Amino acid sequence: MHIFIVYCHPSEDSFTRHVRDEFIRGLQSAGHTYEISDLYKMNFQTDMSETEYSRESSCNDKLPLSEDVIAEQEKINRCDVIDFIYPVFWTEAPAKLIGWFDRVWTYGFAYGDRKMKKLRKAVFLVIAGHTLDHLKEYGHYDSMKTVMLGDRVLDRAESKEMIILDGTTKSNPELREANWNKHLKAAFEVGRSL
Ligand SMILES: Cc1cc2nc3c(=O)[nH]c(=O)nc-3n(C[C@H](O)[C@H](O)[C@H](O)COP(=O)(O)O)c2cc1C
Repeated sequence: MHIFIVYCHPSEDSFTRHVRDEFIRGLQSAGHTYEISDLYKMNFQTDMSETEYSRESSCNDKLPLSEDVIAEQEKINRCDVIDFIYPVFWTEAPAKLIGWFDRVWTYGFAYGDRKMKKLRKAVFLVIAGHTLDHLKEYGHYDSMKTVMLGDRVLDRAESKEMIILDGTTKSNPELREANWNKHLKAAFEVGRSL
C-alpha cells in the first residue's frame, strides 16, 4: 500500500519526530511505500487567502485552486492510507495542520461533489503531554476524536483510528522516559500492521 504522511511538528528535537521515524520504519518493514508532507519544513501556507475564503464560502468549485493545494490533493488521491502525526497543542492539532485542512479540504474535493477518493484508512498518531486518563477526565480525548474522526475524516475513509501516545510532556521527564520506548514500539507496529 501507499501511505501519505502528513507530519506537523516545528522541531526535530522532539519526541514526535521519533514517532514519525519509527512509523516509517514499521511501514517500510511491511513493504509499503510512502510520501510525506512535513508542513513546517515545507513552510506550507496555512492562512486562507480572501480568494480562497470566497471560493469555499460560496461553494464555487469553478474558482481555481492554488498549486500547493492541488499538490496536496494529488498526494491524497494517490495514497491508500493517510496518516497524521502531530503533537497536541491546546487540545487541538497545531494551527499549521488545522490550516492545512482549511486550505486542502476544498469544495469539490473533500465536500460537495467530491473528487477525493475514498481512502482505505485514516490513522492519527497524536502525541500528548498529558496522560490519557487526564485527557479522558476533562473530555479532551472525546473532543479531539470528534473533530478529527467525526468531522475531518467522517466517511472519507473506510476505517479510521486515533492513537494517543500520552504522558510525553517535557515537564515530567520521568514519565516521558517511562513512556518513550513503549510508544515508539507502538508507532512501529502501527506502520507495520497497516
Ligand atoms: C503550545 C503547546 C500546547 C500544548 N498543549 C497541550 C495540550 O493541550 N494537551 C496535551 O496533552 N499536551 C499539550 N502540549 C504538549 C505537547 O503535546 C508536547 O509537545 C508533547 O508532549 C510531545 O512532545 P514533543 O514536543 O517532544 O514531541 C502542548 C505543547 C505546546 C508546546
